[in-house]
Amino acid sequence: MSGGGDEAVLHVRELRKAYAVGGGTFEALKGVSFDVHPGEMVALMGPSGSGKSTLMNVLGLLDRPTEGRYRLGGRDVADLTENERAEARNERVGFVFQAFHLLPRVSLLENVALGMVYAGVPAAVRRERARILLERVGLGDKAQSQPNNISGGQKQRAAVARALAMDPDLLLADEPTGNLDSQTGHEIMALFHRLNAEGSTVMIVTHEHDIARQTERTLHLLDGELHDDERHAPTLPDAVRARLEAPDAAPQGGVAA
Ligand SMILES: Nc1ncnc2c1ncn2[C@@H]1O[C@H](COP(=O)(O)OP(=O)(O)OP(=O)(O)O)[C@@H](O)[C@H]1O
Ligand SMILES: [Mg+2]
Repeated sequence: MSGGGDEAVLHVRELRKAYAVGGGTFEALKGVSFDVHPGEMVALMGPSGSGKSTLMNVLGLLDRPTEGRYRLGGRDVADLTENERAEARNERVGFVFQAFHLLPRVSLLENVALGMVYAGVPAAVRRERARILLERVGLGDKAQSQPNNISGGQKQRAAVARALAMDPDLLLADEPTGNLDSQTGHEIMALFHRLNAEGSTVMIVTHEHDIARQTERTLHLLDGELHDDERHAPTLPDAVRARLEAPDAAPQGGVAA
């Protein structure tokens, strides 16, 4: 469901999120405003407790803001019903998590295809599309493997394929390289760069400056506020650049991380 035209993928205004604590409330987001446009690759940084996960959860429709406006792919999503939110989450956002969150004892093909069940995609179409997506992330030969029998980098590539299942407006990745060694992390970043070059809009939460530097824009959160919105030329480590130039090269590192 990629949004077309100049419409922002994310349009966020004065977003607030308060949590009930004790007798009062704690404001984890204190009026955050920004836009992300189609094809951007953005890093979200900030110290522990600054509100990154809170913001990701709101952006990914896992949680509701307390106040503020939020348009995702041109559609107002602040006031959706629970069912509408679940549908929008499934179709408009692709999540990639630090810990992969693949279903064990189920093939990669099934893992990717399951993301299309909710939207009512016919079984044969799900399988064919899952196969194409696994090929796109370089796992065409692992479609029948189970997550327990593949490396960490392969797991994360499968998770990226799953995130792409519904052709989302936005790929949201929360520390996607956090559980990977640096070489495998480069491999995953190369994959995000390739998807971004192909048109995907990507937002990556990271603690690592090396990751943030690879994007064209870094949002800095501090105490629930957008402290800085920094645009910069992407700087790719040689190891990432090398993988981009040889996208079909065999993944580095051993099996079963
Ligand atoms: N469910 C909750 N109830 C009350 N307070 C919460 C809740 N979730 C988060 N907070 C508080 O909101 C603030 C922001 O938390 P958040 O998890 O968004 O931080 P973060 O930037 O993701 O941190 P980290 O880098 O450690 O993951 C913190 O002070 C946290 O304690
Ligand atoms: Mg967090």
